[in-house]
Amino acid sequence: MGTGAIDYPDSVTHHTWERVLMSQFAVLRNIQPQPELVRENIKKAPGFGQYFTDHMAHVRYTIEEGWQAHQVKPYAPLQLDPAAAVFHYAQEIFEGLKAYRHADGSIWTFRPERNAARINRSAARLALPQLPEEDFIGSLKALVEVDQQWVPTPESVADESSLYLRPFMIASERFLGVRASHEVDYYVISCPVGPYFSGGIKPVSIWLSETLKRAGQGGTGFAKCGGNYAASLVAQNEAAAKGCQQVLFTDAKEGRYVDELGGMNLMLVTKDGQLITPQLSDSILDGVTRRSLLDLAPSLGLDPVERDISIEEWREGAASGDIVEAFACGTAAVITPIGRIVADGFTIDHGEEPGEKTMELRTTLLDIQYGRAEDTNDWLVRLA
Ligand code: COI
Repeated sequence: MGTGAIDYPDSVTHHTWERVLMSQFAVLRNIQPQPELVRENIKKAPGFGQYFTDHMAHVRYTIEEGWQAHQVKPYAPLQLDPAAAVFHYAQEIFEGLKAYRHADGSIWTFRPERNAARINRSAARLALPQLPEEDFIGSLKALVEVDQQWVPTPESVADESSLYLRPFMIASERFLGVRASHEVDYYVISCPVGPYFSGGIKPVSIWLSETLKRAGQGGTGFAKCGGNYAASLVAQNEAAAKGCQQVLFTDAKEGRYVDELGGMNLMLVTKDGQLITPQLSDSILDGVTRRSLLDLAPSLGLDPVERDISIEEWREGAASGDIVEAFACGTAAVITPIGRIVADGFTIDHGEEPGEKTMELRTTLLDIQYGRAEDTNDWLVRLA
């Protein structure tokens, strides 16, 4: 049995019930939004994941009634029972995508149907309920419509500011038996963001974690669940202690092959024009940026290749000049050049400057996302 305590935290009782039906999302407007000056200052220097908008979307699920009570309501702390399953057994998944403001003021997102499909693959793995695609996309549209003033206007082509959208689903039933929760809550929160790495497109250093593993065969590595990220944190701390911004994991079985970074996919560019990335497996996240760069590669004269990459091959290739560029990619990181891999006993160096193909791919992708180039693949979906 559940608590039923989640819907309306005390802190929102003084908000008006302005029920406007948007998709099927009812809107309860925040009557105490952050002051315009505060909002505009945040948008000028948002950092990443620090400041949140005035509202959040919410849909509740129970095993008896399915998904119900779709609404956008004031952003506020959640009221959850301490025995809620998510706190004990980490039955939780999330997504990440962005809303981009175009020069004409309209607001778009990028290939959201891929995130909608992925949240359901994650849900299937974590024994959470399937969320209909129209609820997923509807929740983004409904939230961005209400919080559209929070979407930054990029001031230059180099400015990658946007509104980061963070959908997530948690097991909220009050029950300590180990089984799939009968009650689940889905939310979307959002925050204006700039570059994920504070140096922008300056190449980052990556620590190669050879002992700690993130995911293994048959595990949850391909799913976007909090547990994968929790499992990366000790290695991420090691990375920071070595002066690196991210950690790179290898496969759990042999420790020979490149897997993925703590929170993003990895790509290499070869001298003869291949764009190589580890093939999808139980332990690799099917990144939307990863997929899009593979799709765009031929138009930039690159041959996309998905296959295993051993650390040994990378070391030798970088030393011989066969592997000329390396970068991290993901929704949050966009494309971030990798300058150096630091391991116990060796380094792989790619130089202090971003690679040429890395930057071409980055510009091509961002130009589509920000509406500066024609969206010939129909990847953009209008949010507001
Ligand atoms: C994203 O790129 O959206 C991610 O989810 C990475 C995040 C964990 C920082």
